[in-house]
Amino acid sequence: MKVLITGGAGFIGSHLAEAYLERGDDVYIIDDLSTGSMDNLKTFLHEPRFSDRVFVTIDTILNHDIMLELTGTCDVVFHLAAAVGVRTILEKPLESIRTNIQGTEKVLELCNKFKKRVLIASTSEVYGKHLHAPLVETDNIIYGPSSKFRWSYAASKLMDEFTALAYYRTNGLKAVVTRLFNTVGPRQTGAYGMVIPRFVDQALAGVPLTIYGDGSQTRTFTYVKDVVKAFTLLMETDAAVGEVFNVGGVEEITIRALAEKIIAMTGSASVIEFIPYEKAFGKDFEDMMRRVPGMEKIRNIIGYEPETPLDEILRRIINAKKETLS
Ligand SMILES: NC(=O)c1ccc[n+]([C@@H]2O[C@H](COP(=O)([O-])OP(=O)(O)OC[C@H]3O[C@@H](n4cnc5c(N)ncnc54)[C@H](O)[C@@H]3O)[C@@H](O)[C@H]2O)c1
Repeated sequence: MKVLITGGAGFIGSHLAEAYLERGDDVYIIDDLSTGSMDNLKTFLHEPRFSDRVFVTIDTILNHDIMLELTGTCDVVFHLAAAVGVRTILEKPLESIRTNIQGTEKVLELCNKFKKRVLIASTSEVYGKHLHAPLVETDNIIYGPSSKFRWSYAASKLMDEFTALAYYRTNGLKAVVTRLFNTVGPRQTGAYGMVIPRFVDQALAGVPLTIYGDGSQTRTFTYVKDVVKAFTLLMETDAAVGEVFNVGGVEEITIRALAEKIIAMTGSASVIEFIPYEKAFGKDFEDMMRRVPGMEKIRNIIGYEPETPLDEILRRIINAKKETLS
């Protein structure tokens, strides 16, 4: 099978590429390297058993001709390319909206033209400001005002969901929508606001771990290989078509407890420093205080359970970081 991964040089995309190469498939990647990196591909790009089955195009998904050729060539499409991370969205609001809305529309239009099955990566951010748990796919959505730009990421991803579902309803496009909750693992960078890689980098450098707000906000974390497994199963499941699925982990932890855990696990002498949101992100920012996924729908359809506990996830990330430093 030929698998197209947009954003394949990114964190999740590179792990997904590796999984399909391991299965014996051909992998086509398109990535503009805006937040991704060729470094993410180095474990398999030059590996002799994979090198004649991996094809990398450095370009934007907004390039119609290139996307036309790639989509026509491949059998299935995973659409992961997006402007991601709170920092990226706040610093480049217009470019981010363009990538997330026009880019996804382009991918879906071409998947529809060639009748290719497509899975899109949406986000738990689409739920907005809920405090209850767990969040289920049919929950209402609550956003802040359009003056607070952090919500543009959620709104653009929500529009992607609507577009995918509209292509399904109107043209029968075989589209699957996933809402990822914080996905973590080796190769993720802390440069765009992702909390675990940032904390691990700070702990290993012996500098303060910086918490935005008072640290009482909670999150759940999913290991990237668990997400990859869910993606491959959803892509193979006819009953998943035209549906929206949470893909997440179940262990809820406050950001303060997470920082303390990482300090303990790295044996770091770092302290914790609290930074007001306004100082970190400007006045247009507000946070989501809680984000816990309901997993019943995905469990029922593909038997998915996140397999990797948080301590094990952290151990693997810390070890991978130490290796890159040595
Ligand atoms: N990691 C998470 O916790 C998380 C949570 C929710 C949703 N997601 C979604 O999962 C997907 C993958 O995220 P990730 O964590 O691997 O982030 P990432 O930044 O590592 O991956 C995104 C990739 O898309 C590429 N890209 C961006 N704009 C592009 C464009 N116009 N053309 C081509 N490539 C482009 C980037 O260079 C990058 O390699 C994204 O759609 C993201 O919104 C991730």
